[in-house]
Amino acid sequence: MIELCDVSQIYRTAHGEVRALDRVSLRIGEGEFVAIRGPSGSGKTTLLLVVGGLTLPTEGDAIVAGRALKSLSRAERARFRASEIGFVFQTFHLLPYLNVVDNVLTAALDGRRREATARAELLLERFGLAERRRHRPGQLSAGERQRAALARAMLNEPRILLADEPTGNLDPENGRIVLDLLGQYNREGGTVLLVTHEEEAASRAARCIRMERGRVVAADAGLAAAER
Ligand SMILES: Nc1ncnc2c1ncn2[C@@H]1O[C@H](COP(=O)(O)OP(=O)(O)O)[C@@H](O)[C@H]1O
Ligand SMILES: [Mg+2]
Repeated sequence: MIELCDVSQIYRTAHGEVRALDRVSLRIGEGEFVAIRGPSGSGKTTLLLVVGGLTLPTEGDAIVAGRALKSLSRAERARFRASEIGFVFQTFHLLPYLNVVDNVLTAALDGRRREATARAELLLERFGLAERRRHRPGQLSAGERQRAALARAMLNEPRILLADEPTGNLDPENGRIVLDLLGQYNREGGTVLLVTHEEEAASRAARCIRMERGRVVAADAGLAAAER
């Protein structure tokens, strides 16, 4: 489902170059649940951005859901993201002036408003937010906000969910609820990449990748064969 071959990502700044990813190669199969761990600045977020097609790697190839990302036009890459990838972030990134349903519907694909609305209502019901759907994010608890963000991420039934420290701002109980929802998505066949610092969150994954200074430094057995 995800294949990175010698991917490097170099950020050019006024103060010089930062090699955020340094020749990363890895392979993740459809339906896997993989945790990504490592110190701050080790390239975890950048890895998700590359996989999600938000940035093209400076070097190397990323093949995701059957697409060689660098061969896509900008518009094709945007369509790829919208249909195949769901993103969840530590700080939710909901729009403050839209209610929950409308936040979820920001992910709706062109011309699919009617189906999207029905799916949004279904997800909010499943995520325990039915009563909250006309509330704005400011009226919700952190756990509710993250569940709304998850509904947005899952609106288009993406094949891959990229979660960047999604429980980092939640209390343990709400963190568990979010992890349960990720687990459920995975059991239904979705592929999950979960960046996390938390033991409990990582323990949900079938496999763990550890990053340091832009490199994959350790990965358990499943990955060994894909590493060069
Ligand atoms: N847009 C950017 N411009 C310059 N440097 C960046 C940018 N984004 C990330 N970096 C740098 O790249 C490295 C990896 O960052 P990141 O992928 O965010 O790591 P992590 O998510 O593991 O904390 C860090 O040294 C960070 O400062
Ligand atoms: Mg990060």
